[in-house]
Amino acid sequence: RFTRGTDTFCFDEERERERTPLIMAAVESSNSYTWLAVILSVLTFIYWQGLSRYNSILGGSPLRGPKVWPWIGNLLDIFKYGGIHKMFLNYFRKYGRVHTMCFGRTPVIVVSDPEIVKQILVKDFYKFPNRPTFIKPNPPLDSGLFQAENGKWKRIRTTVAPTFTASKLKEIVPIIDDASQKLMAKMEKFAETGESVDVNRLFSLFALEVIMKAAFGFDSDVQMNPDPEFVEKANNVFKTPVVIRVFSLFPFWTYFSRYFSILQNVEYFISIAKEMLQKRAKKGPTAKKDLVELMMEAQENIVDGVSKLNDDEIMAQSITFLVAGFETTGSTLTSTAYLLATNPAVQDKLIEEIDKAEVEMARNNSSLYDHVQKLGYLDQVISEVLRLCSPAFNLVRGCEEEVVYKGIRFPKGVEVNIPSYVLHRDPEVWKNPLQFNPENFSPEAKEKRNPYSFIPFGTGPRHCLGMRFALLEIKVALLKILQRFKFECAPETVATLEHRAVILMAPKDMIYLKIKAR
Ligand code: HEM
Repeated sequence: RFTRGTDTFCFDEERERERTPLIMAAVESSNSYTWLAVILSVLTFIYWQGLSRYNSILGGSPLRGPKVWPWIGNLLDIFKYGGIHKMFLNYFRKYGRVHTMCFGRTPVIVVSDPEIVKQILVKDFYKFPNRPTFIKPNPPLDSGLFQAENGKWKRIRTTVAPTFTASKLKEIVPIIDDASQKLMAKMEKFAETGESVDVNRLFSLFALEVIMKAAFGFDSDVQMNPDPEFVEKANNVFKTPVVIRVFSLFPFWTYFSRYFSILQNVEYFISIAKEMLQKRAKKGPTAKKDLVELMMEAQENIVDGVSKLNDDEIMAQSITFLVAGFETTGSTLTSTAYLLATNPAVQDKLIEEIDKAEVEMARNNSSLYDHVQKLGYLDQVISEVLRLCSPAFNLVRGCEEEVVYKGIRFPKGVEVNIPSYVLHRDPEVWKNPLQFNPENFSPEAKEKRNPYSFIPFGTGPRHCLGMRFALLEIKVALLKILQRFKFECAPETVATLEHRAVILMAPKDMIYLKIKAR
């Protein structure tokens, strides 16, 4: 008992002794509640952050689409369906021609409607001018045409585009012709031994030799003397390490991305490009034309006292051409060889056209360039290969101004994906869409179809700059091959042509074929 002022207090020791553990328990439990509340708040914040971009841009959209998970969006479906290309096809079947989805935290509207494709890529190009990438490239690669944006892209594209006109490409034919001669020598050996050939390796080396010579002025001689280290470096140039892909999902990534590179071995290829530019600057123009020489000519265009293209920008284009033009062309040739071997009637018809045209070519003394342009069935066959096996299977654009097409709202900030893989398999456009049939590209069939249903090189102002170059290279190689050889199935040839797709799509399995002399 104690007194303070007029008040008297009693302290019941017995009772307090009983109460203390209760108070302690209450304090402890209130501590755990606080912790629980903190943990729940943090988890809710993390969950909310993982969906915030999607919700702020596409939340409330009436479009259908798969359920989106925080942070990863729909990335798990890539594994579920066996690749991004197959995921798109499954979504198309479930949700229709226009639907939503989410890549990591990036909200996406996927479009496989040819009318809307035309609006986005051509008519309203200025509202969709850039190609968002998950990692922003560092200089000098940010000047590469594929990644460059807005005014910078426009200036470089306008300067470089004349390099790829028909008249300029004619000057590059000798590079392709030289590489084709070496390809023939290798094929002759394979035809003699009768061994099964890994055609992907054969055509990758051919495509690598052509692009290194054309875009870097570099004589790699990889077909005859493949340096394993060099080939490995070129093969890996497009392979972004998985760890960088995972980190790129996080919001803080934008601040750190400058310390990483999307492409591997860039320094190595930059040093080749630098050396070549220095040599050319000393020696002056060379007699044999290549893309570098043509770009240097374009560089001489001076506007307001400033060259339209600086050395760093030329180097960035050389690397872009390597990345954009090596695997794409090699894998298209591989797919063509496989589809010819497994469709002998098509191969025979193509050989017939080539043989007939050869007589004509000799009579008219036409150039190799003009000759391949005249082969209509060859063009049909390559188009059909590109329909089924488009290496660039998905086009991407960022929406920079809100638009409404067919009552569908495309909000500013949304990424638009246009999977040509799906457009090229739409059953309402293509009869038996999974069947290889070059008649899909007969003049009559083409006439009847919406042209935006077939876009292996994209379309509009940002379509593939190297399209003519790639088609020329593929056509010259096939012409030379089929003049002397035929593809046949080997015991190891896979029964179906499956693809793997990350940034580019390519045959999933090794493609073995026999090469027979005709
Ligand atoms: C079969 C071979 C090829 C295919 C299927 C292909 C396909 C494509 C596609 C679909 C695009 C994106 C178009 C768009 O977004 O609308 C593209 C862009 C591009 N391609 Fe190709 N390509 C091939 C070969 C080449 C070659 C050989 C080169 C260079 C020598 C090249 C250079 C480029 C460049 C520079 C771009 C970016 C254009 C820009 O944004 O302005 N491509 N390609």
